[in-house]
Amino acid sequence: MALGVEREVARSAGFEPIEVIPTGAALGAELRGVDLKNIDASQFAVIKRAWHDHEVILVRGQTLSDQDLIAFSRRFGDLDWAPVQETGRRFVEGLPEIYIVSNVMVNGEPIGSLGAGEAVWHTDMSYLDVPPMASMLYALEVPPAGGNTSFCSMYAVYQALPNELRQRIAKLKIKHDGTYNSGGYLRQGVAATDDPRTSPGAVHPLVCTHPDTGRRMLYLGRRRNAYLVGLELAESEALLDQLWAFVARPEFAWEHAWRVGDLVLWDNRCTMHRRDPFDASARRIMHRTQIKGSAAPV
Ligand code: OGA
Ligand code: MN
Repeated sequence: MALGVEREVARSAGFEPIEVIPTGAALGAELRGVDLKNIDASQFAVIKRAWHDHEVILVRGQTLSDQDLIAFSRRFGDLDWAPVQETGRRFVEGLPEIYIVSNVMVNGEPIGSLGAGEAVWHTDMSYLDVPPMASMLYALEVPPAGGNTSFCSMYAVYQALPNELRQRIAKLKIKHDGTYNSGGYLRQGVAATDDPRTSPGAVHPLVCTHPDTGRRMLYLGRRRNAYLVGLELAESEALLDQLWAFVARPEFAWEHAWRVGDLVLWDNRCTMHRRDPFDASARRIMHRTQIKGSAAPV
């Protein structure tokens, strides 16, 4: 929801007020005046509301241990274990809830997933029947340039669709592919398939209602191997291309340039995200948690 540049200030007894500062883009807000390892229930309520209103929230200057990151994440719900990626399941020793996104190699082995290349637009793990509700990334090391992460509001994309197109897609279902990850890598243990009709994945409504906000959104997941169930393949491809042309428009997105200590939490139901490539000889280390979804999208 674009709220202009107006600031909301939330007060909570015994704590500094939290400022919620919208990015000015279609989505995203920065929260100031909060230390995420020390929050009370009313501060958490402010954070959660800001997250519902703005879809993605940024909190800078944090100093979180892995345990702090897990404790803050758990306030939103149960956590998933790190997903299986091209490098297998990459997590912090003893803490399977912390997924490592990194290009850094130790003893010839990557410590994390996604390398240094581009990660194309996607929603996390929407190839599952019950995809995660949210993910958060905490920046431990960032490259001097590149590696920015962009987010796109799927409420805004849905609202921008012409009426005729909205009607055409109203009852359609879409298969979200489970073969490749956003870096283009084959998931470990999955056979390569490039026929969207038969590749593994989960089928979801193409237009969904957000379970908390009640707002309607387009649910695309990712482009590769996507398939509109029941359509001829060529028709499905053409309609998907038509819908994806809206996603690529900058007015629906917000781009984040990382600093060490940034925490970004996104709503994985109503947003998609992508990452710019960066110099492979630079280091980027992010620790990530993922909050379980409570139900299949409807
Ligand atoms: C993720 C992801 C992008 C990034 O962790 O799900 O897509 O910027 N990360 O590292
Ligand atoms: Mn992702």
